[in-house]
Amino acid sequence: MAAKAASYRCSECGHAALTWTGQCSGCGAWNTLEEVSAPARASAGSGRGRAAAGPRPVPLRDVKAERSQRLGTGIAELDRVLGGGLVPGSLVLLGGAPGIGKSTLAGMALANLAAVHHDVLYVSGEESAAQVRRRAERLGEAALSVPMLAEPSLESVLAALEAERPAACVIDSVQTLAIPDAAPGSVAAVREATSALLETAKRLEVTLILIGHLTKEGSLAGPRALEHLVDCVLHFEGERERTFRTLRALKNRFGATSEVGVFEMRQGGLVEVEDPSARFVGEARPAPGSVVLCAMEGTRPLLVEVQALVAPTEIVPPRRTATGVDRNRLALVLAVLTRHAGISLSATDVFVNVAGGVRVDEPGADLAIALAVASAHSGRALESDGKPLACFGEVGLTGEIRYVAHADRRVAEARKFGLDRVIGPSPGDQPVVGLSPVGSLKAALSGGGPGRDLKAA
Ligand code: TYD
Ligand code: MG
Repeated sequence: MAAKAASYRCSECGHAALTWTGQCSGCGAWNTLEEVSAPARASAGSGRGRAAAGPRPVPLRDVKAERSQRLGTGIAELDRVLGGGLVPGSLVLLGGAPGIGKSTLAGMALANLAAVHHDVLYVSGEESAAQVRRRAERLGEAALSVPMLAEPSLESVLAALEAERPAACVIDSVQTLAIPDAAPGSVAAVREATSALLETAKRLEVTLILIGHLTKEGSLAGPRALEHLVDCVLHFEGERERTFRTLRALKNRFGATSEVGVFEMRQGGLVEVEDPSARFVGEARPAPGSVVLCAMEGTRPLLVEVQALVAPTEIVPPRRTATGVDRNRLALVLAVLTRHAGISLSATDVFVNVAGGVRVDEPGADLAIALAVASAHSGRALESDGKPLACFGEVGLTGEIRYVAHADRRVAEARKFGLDRVIGPSPGDQPVVGLSPVGSLKAALSGGGPGRDLKAA
């Protein structure tokens, strides 16, 4: 049967229906369905060739797509995560927990842009002008030349954008912008402010960096609701007590979302960590419960130390604590260890931690978790010639070690740091120099060297 054009449309949600009903099945509102007049019905499909009024589709190759020059922020790690700098007229949401360094990062980016003669503007609703100045003093001379507006009202921010037309503007934070008739920081207020800013920014080609706070639970309160409005969502994370910070893109209309920038918070602001592997495994020594993971963070291999502690407990159910790795992956790996390697952990607390306060977010971390836990359980260190063992690979539900991408680059990174024994899944057709391939968790557990069979603990 040929599809018939919709004859009724809901005035609330736009839902189309063939017959009139009292309640809209799209949004649940009552008495909102209205009959659609004839021309609209024609455009809904039946009137092909007629009713030609309205916009005409064009082939994609005729669509104008000028590639505008990106704005380099002078912070290589930030530019990489952005996909090569800020796209003019784009909207970037920078989220993270309070005190992690969002204002510092944004302030540094503006200072660098100002230093190469771009017009910039820093709007602070969060802190007083004096507080922003004190931060700028720590960041250096260039930061002090950034024009700032201590103004929490959306209206005056929009007016300032119209008047100044900066190339880049930071709003710190989107939750503090005051909007008439809405509670500051409420989802409605944040959304309204962002829509208004979006319209102005696109029209004037101003690149906007909106700073948003994360709640303790890790969701961008309010800003989560605007992820679909913005072009880029960056997430700044780390532990406040530690100095390492990682910057990731959760969404990026102009680049990949897998890149990670690593920073260190120092006296004079954030410093880019160019060789993070060296920082994260520099202190790794062979010890029970420790293993080096060859992770991939975007296009870059990264070595981190995964540590585990297994301790007898009377608590039921026993504790499972994961820091830096996914809790669910830990649960899965523990189940596989129990089922396929005979390692019983039912009466033990298990703690897994990635040293240095980084988070690893890839399935390739499974094998490292498994080996660290098994090594902690047996009390035997995993080593090769006095160096820690390195590994990577996904653990499957049947105890098999599954393929993960870039085996060659992971192994090369480990060898760069003198870790000669790397175990991981076989990449298939071409062998990887320096990799000891393992097919199953069982095989991996007996792979720590002669006499180091962890299963037999
Ligand atoms: P901040 O950027 O204000 O964090 P956020 O905007 O995410 O809330 O900075 C957070 C912390 O960084 C603060 O505790 C002070 C510290 N800090 C330094 O250690 N060195 C510096 O040069 C600066 C500017 C800040
Ligand atoms: Mg701040």
